Amino acid sequence: MAPKFFVFEGCEAVGKTTQLKRIEAALREKGFPVIVTREPGGTVVGEKIRSVVLDPVHADTIQPLASLLLFNAARHQWMHEVVKPALAAGKTVLSDRSFLTTMVYQSYIEGIDADFVHALCMKAVDGVLPDKIFLLDISDDELQRRLLGSREEKTTRYDIKGEAFHRKAREGYLAQVARFPGLIERIDGEGPVETITDNMLGRIVSMLS
Ligand code: TMP
Repeated sequence: MAPKFFVFEGCEAVGKTTQLKRIEAALREKGFPVIVTREPGGTVVGEKIRSVVLDPVHADTIQPLASLLLFNAARHQWMHEVVKPALAAGKTVLSDRSFLTTMVYQSYIEGIDADFVHALCMKAVDGVLPDKIFLLDISDDELQRRLLGSREEKTTRYDIKGEAFHRKAREGYLAQVARFPGLIERIDGEGPVETITDNMLGRIVSMLS
């Protein structure tokens, strides 16, 4: 059984991190070797870059191209230190976010040319793509409700953006489904947490078996 690389994507507050933890626990229980990681971050260098690139202090000054390069610097380090070694060791990789967020935030929202962003991301990952990206999606109204009611501390310069930004992010994610045929699976993120986990777990286990 070959290990696989799965990514959990979507707007802020869609429940990616919760689902990722539930899937990790379920896969471990079934005896699959897994590691959990995140972007940006996952390495010492990457976590340092994360603290700079997402710091709300830089919200008005950091240039889109500067942040694109920083996200990809962290990504390249992460691919070499985390993803490739884990896959080579037979471990399935579960990641919170991926290059797809860059396509949405730095290209679709911040306006950097999509082909350029895509080429840079592919260079950063040495051409290693996820086997599947699960795009957790909730309606605009539900997104707004969750963002307003979110108990989580708002820590990044994107968390503090307004409703229009998050709606555009959702639109950007949905636009990526057609851009990467077969790579992205949209998951309805509005049902019971258990149903959403079971849905993705079924897909993952069948791909691992
Ligand atoms: P999160 O880990 O809490 O989801 O925060 C990560 C933030 O970083 C999120 O707001 C999206 C943003 N981000 C980008 O803008 N570009 C990227 O390439 C990545 C990986 C994340």
